[in-house]
Amino acid sequence: MEAVIQTNDLTRHFGDIVAVDALSLEIQRGEIFGLLGHNGAGKTTTVRLMNGVLNPTSGNVRVLGLSPVEQGAELRRRTGVLTETPALYEALSARANLTLFAEIYNLPKADVAQRVESMLAQFNLADRADEKVGGFSKGMKQRLALSRAFLHEPELLFLDEPTSGLDPIAARQVNDSILHASRDERRTVVLATHNLRDAQQMCDRVAVLEHGRLVALGKPAELARELVQARTVLFHVELSQAAQAEATLQDYAESVSTDDAGGALTAQGLVYDRIPDAVHALAIAGIRVYQVSPQEPTLEDVYFTLHQVDTEAS
Ligand SMILES: Nc1ncnc2c1ncn2[C@@H]1O[C@H](COP(=O)(O)OP(=O)(O)OP(=O)(O)O)[C@@H](O)[C@H]1O
Ligand SMILES: [Mg+2]
Repeated sequence: MEAVIQTNDLTRHFGDIVAVDALSLEIQRGEIFGLLGHNGAGKTTTVRLMNGVLNPTSGNVRVLGLSPVEQGAELRRRTGVLTETPALYEALSARANLTLFAEIYNLPKADVAQRVESMLAQFNLADRADEKVGGFSKGMKQRLALSRAFLHEPELLFLDEPTSGLDPIAARQVNDSILHASRDERRTVVLATHNLRDAQQMCDRVAVLEHGRLVALGKPAELARELVQARTVLFHVELSQAAQAEATLQDYAESVSTDDAGGALTAQGLVYDRIPDAVHALAIAGIRVYQVSPQEPTLEDVYFTLHQVDTEAS
């Protein structure tokens, strides 16, 4: 394991607002690391601190062994960034934009044309490549900004909501590009996102931020099992006993419903540790149980569990 990013009590204030609050993290080479959290939780600020666009108020961050603020130029050559509101040259074509950035990134002259074509193809911009970017749709601009982040084959990518504004097909293509960069090319990806399904499917680990603080960190599935106690559980019982089973399960779950055909019941909000008690109660009541299937909790469940705790506390 090799940490490519280390933050140590990283903190950033904006006046009275603590945007990032004593964040200590290590991000390993090759992983897709998700930054999750509500609007204003501190994801973008964290990314900007890692990029050297912002100075920390206190604490520190090292990226690829470098100080982002002091060694920003070297860092930018080795990292690709998609910001929340990417700036593109609107008066230039997509091809001219990429060619210009290829020069800024110091790509070998002989490689530029081919690399630019390959990015235009990968992000589905080839047929509009010579049009001015000012006339592009939001999603087309987003794809161009993404292709710029990937252009110089950086070892580390910072992607702030990469699929924002993309249609489902484009979003999937972008996710495939991210997965390919990580799995096949061992690039490290820091991914700030609101799309919890994407995060669950793609991220090796995620950090959940709240008011700039780290409130959860780990592999999506492990976090879900650890943090989410209330499950949805499917029961299959003897058809003629469905109503009785429903009444019994009411004592254990937040809600219980029976499907139209009977026999199959869905108990929601049943605490994992009480599943055996519920099964026992069904047996005591003489109900014949054929199947009990707890559903795996998702990152979305984690998110709402954490949010519930937050709103109750505040
Ligand atoms: N340049 C700035 N000046 C003042 N306040 C700022 C600045 N940048 C961020 N903040 C504040 O810091 C907090 C964190 O903002 P940040 O943009 O990091 O959140 P985020 O998690 O990226 O949110 P979103 O999901 O909406 O993109 C917010 O309260 C925001 O208003
Ligand atoms: Mg943001």
